[in-house]
Amino acid sequence: MKKKLYRTSSPEETKAVAAALAARTRPGSVYALHGDLGAGKTVFASGFAHALGITEPVSSPTFTIVQEYPFEKGIFFHLDLYRIDSPDAALAFGIDEFLYAADGVALIEWPERIQGLFPPHTVYVDIRRGETEEERVITVEQPD
Ligand SMILES: Nc1ncnc2c1ncn2[C@@H]1O[C@H](COP(=O)(O)OP(=O)(O)OP(=O)(O)O)[C@@H](O)[C@H]1O
Ligand SMILES: [Mg+2]
Repeated sequence: MKKKLYRTSSPEETKAVAAALAARTRPGSVYALHGDLGAGKTVFASGFAHALGITEPVSSPTFTIVQEYPFEKGIFFHLDLYRIDSPDAALAFGIDEFLYAADGVALIEWPERIQGLFPPHTVYVDIRRGETEEERVITVEQPD
């Protein structure tokens, strides 16, 4: 397991961290994005999508659960599981289709809702508030 830590002081810097990860993404990649309300998960997703070449604005998919954005190498799935209350509900919703899509890249907000369902190659990202309004501490754990 490789673990990296970043400190950012603006939404733009958080997007840059996401962009660096996106540059190394492959079809089938899965990202579990942990963090409290307002931590910056959607900001991170937006920077990630932009780096994949997606020009559509990325907003919170809370009410739709998943938004799909086609890009050059496949489909980017942005999921927000805030309103899903159990792994069973996620399975009924069809979560497997997104976690195990061969040509998909999935980024999941509120991954704690489906603990235990993630594939072994999942990259875990955690965003926390720092000491000032715009500081964030981001950890990225990647399997070897
Ligand atoms: N360093 C930073 N990185 C990311 N966002 C920041 C930073 N500093 C301030 N912000 C602000 O924090 C907010 C993060 O909102 P965002 O919607 O990304 O949170 P979220 O984690 O997706 O929340 P939710 O759980 O409600 O979906 C934005 O208003 C953004 O401008
Ligand atoms: Mg969000």
